[in-house]
Amino acid sequence: MLRLVLLTTLLLLDSPESVIAENGFDGWLRYAPVHCGKSCQRLLPSRIVTLNGTGNNSIDTATEELQLGLGKIVGKEIPIERSDCDSRSSILVATADQYRQACDSSLDLSVLDEDGFWLRTSDGTVQILGQNERGALYGAFEYLSLLSQGNFTNVDYRTNPHASIRWVNQWDNMDGSIERGYAGPSIFFSNGQIVEDLSRVKQYARLLSSIRINGVVVNNVNANATLLTDQNMDGLARIADVFRPYGIQIGVSLNFASPDTLGGLGTYDPLDSAVITWWGNVTDRLYKRVPDMLGYLVKASSEGQPGPDTYNRTLSQGANLFARALQPHGGILMFRTFVYDHHINESIWTNDRANAQVEFFKELDGQFEDNVILQIKFGPIDFQVREPVSPLFANLYHTNMAIELQVTQEYLGQQDHLVYLPPLWKTILDFDLRVDHKPSLVRDIVSGQRFDRQLGGWAAVVNVGTNTTWLGHHLAMSNLYAYGRLAWSPTEDSQGVLEDWIRLTFGLDRRVLETITDMSMASWPMYENYTGNLGIQTLTDIIYTHYGPSPASQDNNGWGQWTRADHDTIGMDRTVKNGTGNAGQYPAEVAQMYENIESTPDDLLLWFHHVPYKHRLHSGKTVIQHFYDAHYAGAETAQHLVSQWDSLEGRIDQERFDHVRKRLVYQAGHSIVWRDAINNFYWNMSEIADEKGRVGHHPWRMEAESMELYGYEAYAVNPFESASGYHAIVTTSNSTSGTAETRVEAPSGKYDIAVNYYDMYGGQSQWTIYVNDRIVGSWQGDSEETLSHTPSIYLDGHSATRITFEKVDVHQGDVLKIVGVPDGVEPAPLDYVALLPPGIAD
Ligand code: GCU
Repeated sequence: MLRLVLLTTLLLLDSPESVIAENGFDGWLRYAPVHCGKSCQRLLPSRIVTLNGTGNNSIDTATEELQLGLGKIVGKEIPIERSDCDSRSSILVATADQYRQACDSSLDLSVLDEDGFWLRTSDGTVQILGQNERGALYGAFEYLSLLSQGNFTNVDYRTNPHASIRWVNQWDNMDGSIERGYAGPSIFFSNGQIVEDLSRVKQYARLLSSIRINGVVVNNVNANATLLTDQNMDGLARIADVFRPYGIQIGVSLNFASPDTLGGLGTYDPLDSAVITWWGNVTDRLYKRVPDMLGYLVKASSEGQPGPDTYNRTLSQGANLFARALQPHGGILMFRTFVYDHHINESIWTNDRANAQVEFFKELDGQFEDNVILQIKFGPIDFQVREPVSPLFANLYHTNMAIELQVTQEYLGQQDHLVYLPPLWKTILDFDLRVDHKPSLVRDIVSGQRFDRQLGGWAAVVNVGTNTTWLGHHLAMSNLYAYGRLAWSPTEDSQGVLEDWIRLTFGLDRRVLETITDMSMASWPMYENYTGNLGIQTLTDIIYTHYGPSPASQDNNGWGQWTRADHDTIGMDRTVKNGTGNAGQYPAEVAQMYENIESTPDDLLLWFHHVPYKHRLHSGKTVIQHFYDAHYAGAETAQHLVSQWDSLEGRIDQERFDHVRKRLVYQAGHSIVWRDAINNFYWNMSEIADEKGRVGHHPWRMEAESMELYGYEAYAVNPFESASGYHAIVTTSNSTSGTAETRVEAPSGKYDIAVNYYDMYGGQSQWTIYVNDRIVGSWQGDSEETLSHTPSIYLDGHSATRITFEKVDVHQGDVLKIVGVPDGVEPAPLDYVALLPPGIAD
């Protein structure tokens, strides 16, 4: 981006703004009023002028958006005029070539790339010139973003995209569910069809367009062929009509076997002429309805999905089938490289899922049609909390590539944990793969620049739903916003982008800005600390919900997300000399760094090396002590998030404040669940004690199973590490309540009382806690309705939850009692109660 002049005078306020209740529906496009006094008002434009609106194109969308925004931000109603070049005291919105033709033949158009724009503001006169209509719309959003952030200075700059592909993927199913979606049902589909009311789609289009996303694939990569019925194709046309004025084109995911399952051909062999004709017809019928359709996304031969391997055809033969059908229409095929055998044998030391993508695709380099882009997940496994860059990016010289990221937090807290993702994404985008000993930053590879490719870019799995917050957590929207910003300009700073988002979403209060910035920037390292350290991956349940802790689930199955942990050692040996050879898939300089234990960074040590728990890191700590310390540090940071947020009460509208607070309190509790589960698991496995004596030692806790129980019984929790003392209690019947009580032995005083319980799917138990006969509080196990994550039907690390009652007066000898009322299949399960002196998390 060339910024010729950019004077920034942000009007940051030190006191709360007016705080009107909000539900998140407008995201960062709230256009909240910004103070603009008399002299400021005088310098505002007084009309919007368009040279080439047609009534329904992106220029018209831009003018409408400007009118709306100006009205809301500075309270100025301004008319839209189709007018001449006299642009004084007006906002002129046009394509650059139209402006050149009509107004200024000296304008140099070459400075703008496709979708780029030029923004010039000078004392009430604003020019927004797009390379195309879409670019003009982007420029309008940019101008409104400046005003919304209180920036009324004169600017003059142009900006161009990093890559032409800036897409989002939705994993929406035809029945309206969303795979790995945490914010309610689909905005596109219901009951096998496209929904009638597309007003949510329109709002999504606004949000995406304002962050310069130009494509959306509307259905799940695990695709259902029924999307291709005539009725559903008509529905797709309606969706495309809603996105079009926002400069967004749609694409669809295809199921490889459709010619057989939907077409009844009895085959889906990509070289069979009937199959080729069938796809040609489908493609023609789609383009008839959606002439500007982007193209297709295909997941084939992956995780049980059908693909060309059924007929012994190569992946490139499979991909080219679709690419050729698309060529007459100018469409693009995004072909996913997430291909691996999920039945590999862990007892073979050299087996490694991380090798699969290079093994499958490297030899096909150069065999894909020019309109094929390989869509490559950022790391070699699957959106883990930390992974090295996928080596595939370094192994394709003659093939277009796009990076696949996840905004939806599948392995990263499912929108019930605050995790700001751009710092993680930056570890990938800024990584230099040193292909042929030359600078080869991942961001320059995906843009096409490094290997001189015409096509390339970005895809992110977003999975918004009908929840008004879009993603299930107001703060998770920073990830979507930042994704768009980075896809446009990956050199932007994660924190700077975040700060823009905060101002747009929560206003100009300085305290709000600083606090949410601190919380967000601390969040990914914090999450890594309490979920999976040193490159061991997110130690979640990989065969169930992908949410809470379950380290044992990584191993002893064919999915290949192994840790190879045993009594003495841990980590994957991916070296060439002793291991799976994965390090050797990287170019020489990088390969050497990872091959060698001394030069492997600590944060990827266990990704590349199998070491004793007592192996010393560069930091000087042993691996096991690092685990223990990191988990305590991560959980401690999570406790602070709540107090940081609380300091903003009154500065944020109550509706969003409460919504976020509920999740942060939950996260603080669940971080302790994570901490204890992982620490207990590795302590148990290695039998190496925590040097600081914390692991397995909880002086403030009273185990439920050790209390006096009436109508409750002890229950051995599986996996064992997800219960303190490995046991919980459950009511003896599903219809009668249970009571657990104990006498307080701790000295009299004020305590925070924390209760760990299990909130399972399939029931909403109720619990009430008493000190003597005084009710301290009561609560319900209703998180399946009030939180976002995938619920669990078991007592485990996903359902384990903590509630805390603050500053309760307790006397030595008091009777502390919890009464649990079961509901459905949920037997009011309890793990422990902790009497915590204020400030201690235990
Ligand atoms: C992950 C995810 C699946 C998804 C797959 C994919 O494995 O858990 O739900 O289908 O990735 O990206 O295709």
